[in-house]
Amino acid sequence: MTPRILDTPAELFQAAANEFVTRASKAVHSEGRFTVALSGGSTPKSLYALLAGGSLPSIPWDKIYFFWGDERHVPPDHPESNFRMTNEAMLSKVPVPRQNIFRMPGELPNAEDAALAYERELQRFFRLQPGEFPRFDLILLGIGPDGHVASLFPATTGLLEQHRLVVANWVEKFKTYRITMTLAVINYAACVMFLVSGSDKAEIVKEIFEEPNAHLPAQQVRPANGELLWMMDRGAGSALKR
Ligand code: 6PG
Repeated sequence: MTPRILDTPAELFQAAANEFVTRASKAVHSEGRFTVALSGGSTPKSLYALLAGGSLPSIPWDKIYFFWGDERHVPPDHPESNFRMTNEAMLSKVPVPRQNIFRMPGELPNAEDAALAYERELQRFFRLQPGEFPRFDLILLGIGPDGHVASLFPATTGLLEQHRLVVANWVEKFKTYRITMTLAVINYAACVMFLVSGSDKAEIVKEIFEEPNAHLPAQQVRPANGELLWMMDRGAGSALKR
């Protein structure tokens, strides 16, 4: 698990965009489609804006299928919605067919209903039998300052789930439910790409890479039969041993 460290945030997002485009083109060429689960929060905004900016080689938007790794328990127009962030930064600006966009229904009053609905959506799209997992071509992840990934926060029950695809995960520190894919799905992906930017993540990055017994959620991301990419800028990697 060797991180790819880019000098500046701009270089990080450019490198991540290049990875995205390369993988999308390869998947479309070989499989006829590219399935990606997007991450939320603030870091990926710059990647999404770059992808939408039009400066990259032609992206096969009509053959890319967009999912989310997690969503807040809010409506899609809420300021905290990961869908809203992604739609504003990218999806509303590119010719991706609406039917290629699979939003987590965070607006449902009961978070478990939202999780079950999304799980059924995945089972339908990937034509899964009970007990099977979807194999995404790419899952994008960020890390929180506590080492959480998607909405799998330390000491939450969602981290322990080994059978479900999507769960409603109670996050005590925010006193709210989040809807999140499980580690079982994340670790079944063909490629998981972590995107980490800024010196405020330096300490947690150091812990993830240098404290193997910290049992952080990010350390439990180990694709069983896929690639694991850690992409960060110099700020995020600044506390790592040289
Ligand atoms: C979310 C994300 C979450 C995010 C980290 C990092 O819903 O917030 O999925 O896992 O990736 O919290 O967030 P920042 O990029 O804002 O630091």
